[in-house]
Amino acid sequence: MTKLSINLLGIEFENPLILASGINDKVPEQWIRAHEEGAGGVVTKSIGIEPRKGYDNPTIVELPYGLINAMGLPNPGWKGFLEMAEGYTFDFPLIVSIFGGTPEEFAFLAEKLSDVADAFELNLSCPHAKGYGMELGQKPENVYEVVRAVKDATDKPVIAKLTPNIDDITKLGLVAEKAGADAVSAINTLKAIAIDIYARRPILSNRVGGYSGPGVKPVALRAVYDLARTLDIPVIGIGGITTWQDAVEFLLAGASALQIGTAVYIRGWNVFREINEGIKRYLEEEGFSSVEEIVGLALE
Ligand code: DOR
Repeated sequence: MTKLSINLLGIEFENPLILASGINDKVPEQWIRAHEEGAGGVVTKSIGIEPRKGYDNPTIVELPYGLINAMGLPNPGWKGFLEMAEGYTFDFPLIVSIFGGTPEEFAFLAEKLSDVADAFELNLSCPHAKGYGMELGQKPENVYEVVRAVKDATDKPVIAKLTPNIDDITKLGLVAEKAGADAVSAINTLKAIAIDIYARRPILSNRVGGYSGPGVKPVALRAVYDLARTLDIPVIGIGGITTWQDAVEFLLAGASALQIGTAVYIRGWNVFREINEGIKRYLEEEGFSSVEEIVGLALE
């Protein structure tokens, strides 16, 4: 019997694949769909204090090896989120992504949303929202304070989602761990831009955005490898995972679980099933009986 299920942060996941916070996870129907299509868990779109419309279109540019997005953190705010989720029960772990401009805002959100969340992911890493995300999360002292404040506000596990837009991501991982984070996830998108050569201006309405998808995979894999070598808490791998081979690479690099976002956009919801099947086949063929057995083997 080959076991795909994992226990992460004291939570059982049917398999290591989790829908990433991104462009396919605004409403409960999408969370349920992801699980029906084979995701072991779901991270919601990041939720803030007030409702936000997000940026005007275009918010996404499709490139040969991925996407550049600047959605602008569109979300219904915490009250709207609770109204939206009311009446649903989820038979899979729901990780609620939150963002704020100060440690207090993060802590407030964690307190308000603790009843619906199985865990929180702190978005410390959006590369283009003024005053939030990367602007906050590039500074280790901010990461420390946000994690501390949230840990004080909730009993639910806390995952710090880190930015790759820094010289050494392990500096952020180390302070998150020191502040009591239960896990880190990496990476959020890489700072990027695309220019329309005839309009002679950037394509995105926000001008700049974040790059995701197969093109960022080696960068993400390196971040996960460095974090897993440095930290004692689990690392959740995100960044361009599109095939089962990518997934196995991340597990070997030390990721305890994997998040998938852009691949759903590019290849459709069936990626979860396809990747799970590929991981299972690999484990069987290589003589392993669980996902957990291969986590970090490439670190040795
Ligand atoms: O690339 C990103 N875009 N990362 C985030 O964390 C937020 C998102 C957005 O909503 O713009």
